Amino acid sequence: MRTTIQQIQEMKRRGDRIAMLTAYEYSIAKLLDAAGVPMLLVGDSLASVVLGYETTVHATMDDMVRHTQAVVRGTERALIVGDLPFMSYQVSVEEALRNAGRLMREGGAGAVKLEGGVSVAETVRRIVQAGVPVMGHIGLTPQSVHQLSGHKVQGRTAEVAARLLADAEALEQAGAFAVVLEGMPTLLAAQVTRRLRIPTIGIGAGPECDGQVQVIHDLLGLFTDFVPRHARKYADLGEQIKEAARRYADDVREGAFPTSKESFSMDASVLQDAEESLAYRAPDQREVTA
Ligand code: KIV
Repeated sequence: MRTTIQQIQEMKRRGDRIAMLTAYEYSIAKLLDAAGVPMLLVGDSLASVVLGYETTVHATMDDMVRHTQAVVRGTERALIVGDLPFMSYQVSVEEALRNAGRLMREGGAGAVKLEGGVSVAETVRRIVQAGVPVMGHIGLTPQSVHQLSGHKVQGRTAEVAARLLADAEALEQAGAFAVVLEGMPTLLAAQVTRRLRIPTIGIGAGPECDGQVQVIHDLLGLFTDFVPRHARKYADLGEQIKEAARRYADDVREGAFPTSKESFSMDASVLQDAEESLAYRAPDQREVTA
């Protein structure tokens, strides 16, 4: 049985903190599920950390559907949230509905996430009305990175802070079940968290959110292009992978891999029979016969 929307919301009411991680593929999703992480986000950050693009705007609906499917196949208990990528929900409400439907029906997601506040509230309302749970995302919204002139903390001025408070309330009123607060000062995120009945999930938004989300590649030390200040490395798999690959390459060069332990045996007489069965035809005759 997967974590439900109601259980996530109940966690806020009980004061239980909510842990969320991104996942993009089967094997790692399976490990995160086994570790008991209740909610996994198939984030459009996959465009950067998996596909190597500079920003998330390069993720497509097909990317998101395919990776959501893989994460769903690898998990039994986590609630899977699929990210709606750039331009999949901004053009029209109809297109947003169609794409949210794809992430659920084709991808198998239990909910979708999209970026924006007041400007997407009507879209959120319509998607929720259609039966698709929606997680909002405000603050530093990576799909608007060009408009925001880079990955900068948002809400340090009264004007922007007021806008973000209004965005959060608009999402709650539109029926969002939770909202990601990314890249905003602790004080502002705490105030949003107090004002909302739905859970806030922070990333670079301080410790007072109802939950936290991190990009799994940052947590495991797998993405080395840059490490965001808000990230904490819980393992250095990047170094372990390099060391393992180095040792493997050395072993291959030195003939130390594979040994008989990693190889498959056969009876030598079988090979001899095989060779004898070919022996009546010399190689040039084989060509002629063929
Ligand atoms: O795509 C993503 O990984 C996200 C998180 C940063 C919240 O949206």
